[in-house]
Amino acid sequence: MKTLISGIQPTRILTLGNYLGAVKNFVQLQNESTDLDFLIFIADLHAITIPQNPQELKQHIRQLGALYIACGLDPKKIHLFVQSEVKEHAQLGWILDCCSYIGELERMTQFKDKKSKNETAVSGGLLAYPTLMAADILLYDTDIVPIGLDQKQHLELTRNLAERFNHRYGPIFKIPQIYIAPVGAKIASLVDPTKKMSKSDPNPKAYISLLDSKEEIIKKIKSAKTDLDGIVRYDETEKPGVSNLMTILSCITHQSFAQIEQYYEGKGYAVFKQDVADAIIRELQPIQQKYYELLASDELDRILDEGRDYAQNKASQKIRQIENALGLGR
Ligand code: AMP
Ligand code: TRP
Repeated sequence: MKTLISGIQPTRILTLGNYLGAVKNFVQLQNESTDLDFLIFIADLHAITIPQNPQELKQHIRQLGALYIACGLDPKKIHLFVQSEVKEHAQLGWILDCCSYIGELERMTQFKDKKSKNETAVSGGLLAYPTLMAADILLYDTDIVPIGLDQKQHLELTRNLAERFNHRYGPIFKIPQIYIAPVGAKIASLVDPTKKMSKSDPNPKAYISLLDSKEEIIKKIKSAKTDLDGIVRYDETEKPGVSNLMTILSCITHQSFAQIEQYYEGKGYAVFKQDVADAIIRELQPIQQKYYELLASDELDRILDEGRDYAQNKASQKIRQIENALGLGR
C-alpha cells in the first residue's frame, strides 16, 4: 500500500488552475488504484503565514472541504482533514525548523516571491513555510506527493530535510517522491499568460474561480489574452495565451493538442474561445451544484471528523518515534 498526501491552502476559492493542476489529478489518482492510503488536508496553518481575517478563514476552510468533495474526492477512498486539528503538524514543523538552515529557506523561490511583494512585513512563518510542509509529508511516512510544478522545490527541500534528519538520528523518515501530472501541471493567468493563474491575483479576470457563473466564465475566456494571428497552435513561447487555453481544453476534454489544432484550423479564436468556455462550464456545473448541497448539510463535518481521527492516530504514533529519536521528554 502506498501513502499519498497533499494539501491546499484555504485562501479564497479554488481556481481552474488549482483544479486542473492539482485536484483533478488527486481524483484521478484516487480512482486509478484501490491500494492507496490517500490523505488530503486543508492547510490552514500555512494560510496564516500571511495575516487572515479569522471569520473569512473559518469560512474558507469549510468551503475548501466542500469543494474538494464536490470536485470528486470520495470520502470512502480518501481521508480529508483540517491541518490545524492534528497538532503534530505544528510540532514536527518546529522540529524540522531546527534541522533546516536559514540559507536554504531563503533560497526558496516562493519565499523570495512573497518577500518581494511585501518587504516590510515578512513573517518568520513565511520563511519556515516549507519546513511545515515537510512536516505534513514526513509525519505520515508518505511515498508520493502529488502537487503542481510550483511546489517542486519545496518537495526537494523536504527530501533533504528527511535525509539530514535520518543521517543525524537514525532511519526515521521515508523519503517521499514527487508526482506532477503530465498535462495541466501549470495553468497560466488569462490576463498575462506568462504568469501562473493564481487565486491571489488582484485582477479577477486573470483567473476562473470554481464558483464563477456561466456568464463570468464566458466573459473571462472571451477577454483572455491571445495574439493576433488567429491560428490555434500550441507554442508556449510564441503563443502563450492560445497554448494556455489549449491546455485547459485538453485537460477537460482529453483531446491532444494535435487534435485541437486540426479541429480549429481556419476557424479563428472566437469559435475556439466559445468552445473553451463551454467546456469549462460543463465541467464546473456539477461541481457547483454538489458544493452548495454539501455546504448546507452536516455531511461535511462528519467527513472532516473522520479524516481528523484517522490522521491523528497515525501522526501521534509517528511523533512518538521522532521524539524518542531526538531524546525529547523524559
Ligand atoms: P495554491 O493555490 O498556491 O495554494 O496551490 C494549491 C495547489 O494547486 C498546488 O498543488 C499548486 O501547485 C496548484 N496550483 C496552483 N495554481 C496553479 C496553476 N495556475 N496551475 C496549475 N496548478 C496550480
Ligand atoms: N504548499 C502547498 C501549496 O501552496 C500546500 C501544501 C502544504 C502541501 N503542505 C503540503 C502540498 C504538503 C503537498 C503536501 O500548494
